[in-house]
Amino acid sequence: MTTTEAQPDDASPANNIHAEKILILDFGSQYTQLIARRVREIGVYCEIRAFDLDEKIAREFNPQGIILSGGPESVTQDDTLRAPDYIFNLGVPVLGICYGMQTMAVQLGGKVEGSAKQEFGYARVEINGESPLLTGIFDELEQHRRYLDVWMSHGDKVAQLPPGFVPLASTSTTEFAAMADDERRFYGLQFHPEVNHTLQGMPMMERFIKTVCGCQGLWTAANIVDDIITGVRAKVGDRKVILGLSGGVDSSVVAALLSRAIGDQLTCVFVDNGLLRLDEGDQVMAMLGKGSDNIFKLNIIRVDAADLFLGKLEGVADPEKKRKIIGNTFIEIFDEQAQLIEDVDFLAQGTIYPDVIESAGNKDGKAHVIKSHHNVGGLPDYMKLALIEPLRELFKDEVRKIGVELGLTPEMVNRHPFPGPGLGVRILGPVSKPFADLLRQADHIFIEELRAADLYARTSQAFAVFLPVKSVGVVGDARRYEYVIALRAVETIDFMTARWAHLPYDFLEKVSGRIINEISGISRVTYDISSKPPATIEWE
Ligand code: XMP
Repeated sequence: MTTTEAQPDDASPANNIHAEKILILDFGSQYTQLIARRVREIGVYCEIRAFDLDEKIAREFNPQGIILSGGPESVTQDDTLRAPDYIFNLGVPVLGICYGMQTMAVQLGGKVEGSAKQEFGYARVEINGESPLLTGIFDELEQHRRYLDVWMSHGDKVAQLPPGFVPLASTSTTEFAAMADDERRFYGLQFHPEVNHTLQGMPMMERFIKTVCGCQGLWTAANIVDDIITGVRAKVGDRKVILGLSGGVDSSVVAALLSRAIGDQLTCVFVDNGLLRLDEGDQVMAMLGKGSDNIFKLNIIRVDAADLFLGKLEGVADPEKKRKIIGNTFIEIFDEQAQLIEDVDFLAQGTIYPDVIESAGNKDGKAHVIKSHHNVGGLPDYMKLALIEPLRELFKDEVRKIGVELGLTPEMVNRHPFPGPGLGVRILGPVSKPFADLLRQADHIFIEELRAADLYARTSQAFAVFLPVKSVGVVGDARRYEYVIALRAVETIDFMTARWAHLPYDFLEKVSGRIINEISGISRVTYDISSKPPATIEWE
């Protein structure tokens, strides 16, 4: 498939959201994306690049400030990562966080040494210097001494400040927990302002970005929407765009954006594969389709392909084979539909920024990843469509904010993620329509009760799983052998690791009672208490 990458459009008429930007150089910290999200929350566009970013690219990017992330290495060892020296000559403020502070200290003539006492977790820092970065920000004031509660995660520490720097804060074991060179506008924080545990982290980051770097905060939901719409219109002109709509957050927000930008030039294809949640197809049509009460009124081709999918899946037990069949069948149908529309030039996709980020752990970069979710990435070669990726610069929380800005309901934009293969990987072993119908009902009861108990937003992903084993139950005087439903709910930030959600017993009792009583065919409900790792979130 021939694709061209959607580029940000810098020529927004109203507020140029890319006029001010922060560059984040990634040294491999688990918190790098969190730094970026904080900068965006403060209202400034930022990009994460690998720590060894090329000078030419950095100069072209033209940031108002640079942040050096933390990282797992030790600057006291040879061959560990260093910031490119040119960044200290660009004339822009630089903030080093944790490892970023240490490499900055060493590179500018200071000293770092291994610490006898490592600090991980909460620490109390005393402020002992003055700088626009920190002055006036503190958690406690005791006899004119100012303290901050911060989150530390380091083994090494700065032992000698580089020339030009003054100390800003210390702990009982770390003399230089923060340092500043106000003249050159270089700053270092040994602790992590980006994590919530550092109570004054956001005010500190805001000081750096607004007071020190001089940014105003143009990156707002309304401005982003305007900018994307202008960009899409300029790129598409009067040509046509096709979008695979899954009912998930990303593709729905893309649909809503494109509907505002190009109206009827967009055609969406919604494929019901028979493995969706209860009433999902109707909900998508009601929310986005024509002839209903919504503001979007999109052209949506709804394809009922349940029989085709379920037929192809018959007797297939292997999860990866199921995924392949579901993915390939989706492509087949999408392609068929695309060919029915005359003169389509563009394929819209819901690629988001975390799919694109070039990180320290991945120095080759992933700048041109095609999202595999819903498998539109694997379209046949002859569909020579250019890509439109309006969410390419956005984190998930930003996608949600602009979804609301566009008029999607908060309930819709805050939905838990749902895998492309849908219930296909939540019915263990071979899939069948009766199993899918039972699972849909159980899942619906679980989610409905989670919402009613105000627990939905407190879990990151929750769903029911169908176990094709029969277990005994008693109804009246009779025994019956019916299937088992497992409930799964997890709390996670990144879906890479997850803790099983500690849902209240009363709540679980209610859900279990409803499932067994309301669904004939289910005789037993279990709750999955496995965390990830070693278990995965899905059961297949
Ligand atoms: P696991 O089960 O690997 O899931 O812990 C992590 C996240 O990925 C989702 N997931 C998928 N999403 N296609 C998708 O689009 C898939 O085949 C797939 N498998 C897992 C899962 O729902 C969870 O959010």
